[in-house]
Amino acid sequence: MRRQGVVMLLAVARALRPVARSTRPKLRPKSTVAEAESRFITGHPDCNVTPYIANLVGRDLHKKSAHPLGIIKDRIEAYFEGLETSYDVFDGEDPVVTTTQCFDDLNIPPEHPGRSKSDTYYLTDTELLRTHTSAHQSQHLRQGHEAFLCTGDVYRRDEIDASHFPAFHQMEGVKLFSEAEMNGRTDFSDKEAWLASPECDIVGKDLKATLEGLIKYVFDDPDLQTRWRDDYFPFTEPSFELDVFYQDEWLEVLGCGVIHADVLDRCGLASRRGWAFGLGLERLAMVLFAIPDIRLFWTDDERFHKQFKEGTVSTFKPYSKYPPVFKDIAFWCPESYVENDFNELARSIGGELIERVENIDTFTNPKTGKTSNCYRITYRSMDRSLTDVEINALQDSLRDEAASALSVELR
Ligand code: DAH
Repeated sequence: MRRQGVVMLLAVARALRPVARSTRPKLRPKSTVAEAESRFITGHPDCNVTPYIANLVGRDLHKKSAHPLGIIKDRIEAYFEGLETSYDVFDGEDPVVTTTQCFDDLNIPPEHPGRSKSDTYYLTDTELLRTHTSAHQSQHLRQGHEAFLCTGDVYRRDEIDASHFPAFHQMEGVKLFSEAEMNGRTDFSDKEAWLASPECDIVGKDLKATLEGLIKYVFDDPDLQTRWRDDYFPFTEPSFELDVFYQDEWLEVLGCGVIHADVLDRCGLASRRGWAFGLGLERLAMVLFAIPDIRLFWTDDERFHKQFKEGTVSTFKPYSKYPPVFKDIAFWCPESYVENDFNELARSIGGELIERVENIDTFTNPKTGKTSNCYRITYRSMDRSLTDVEINALQDSLRDEAASALSVELR
């Protein structure tokens, strides 16, 4: 059922491309579209990459030194450059990875929701657009890198609002400790003993000190208030999360931990120990530059780009806030219904003109057992005013395609 749905969704996305394209100014050149499609839209029954998503791959925003994402990345790299340990720096890995790299190498179990086709973009049953930069940890460790940073674009099927976009950017950091730093210890086979050992504590303390230093450096505030919370990731043990207190709010900035023994074992590094972290660049850039909507990172509008300078964190001045247009859509759902499929369809049709998709009402008829969902779509351009005609056309397409591709019954 699901598989068929996605294939149909793809067909729909293809058919609708001209609509979406004509409403989005300054899109990628045609040749890029064709190339992207052949590589990411494979025709495999498990492929759920849409043309819209394929077009986001390769923009390399994190490599642009005068783009807020590039500025933050450079700042983080500069901090690590100033430390005693020397970190190898990567930022050009292919975002297409295998399920082994993205999940198995990292102890992520087969039933983990992050692996599902409703959350992740697959090219085939074994290849996907990476969902996190952790997908490259094991390969760099196997290649012998002892400390490194790795930045890249990552992709997730997700809800749609001002802070969620299907593509965003992460930076991963890893550091292994020398035998001397581990007090000469190379036998870590007793797992319980390792977790209770002073050496495990050394790794955790170094991790926390390094990352607190990083965040204070990035926020340019030595007095920044931070707090640690215990967390869980399958690939670290113990795992932590770092929050900062910024503009009267606690803000979650990164996940990290002591690298899980199984991860190191698989890399042939059973006699080594170390730490890892992963952080989202958009989240940091949005607060530091006061960028109110995640779609702005992807705009070609000069009024955005001319505001930023290499090496400088500055406050974004919104050039205009164009009015939103709200449209509701309500339908009865088939049993196979998955909300992210609707989000994806909306993105495929409305592209960056869609600011938010909000479920405003869910109702299950006690007699029939059928569920109805009502969504409010907020259309708003970052760059111009929208016309009724174009939004009505998009909303009509969305209604038609929801009915045919997702088999919902419109109300
Ligand atoms: N990969 C995690 C995510 O996307 C972030 C993360 C957490 C990375 C802990 C790490 C880590 O390297 O140790 O949410």
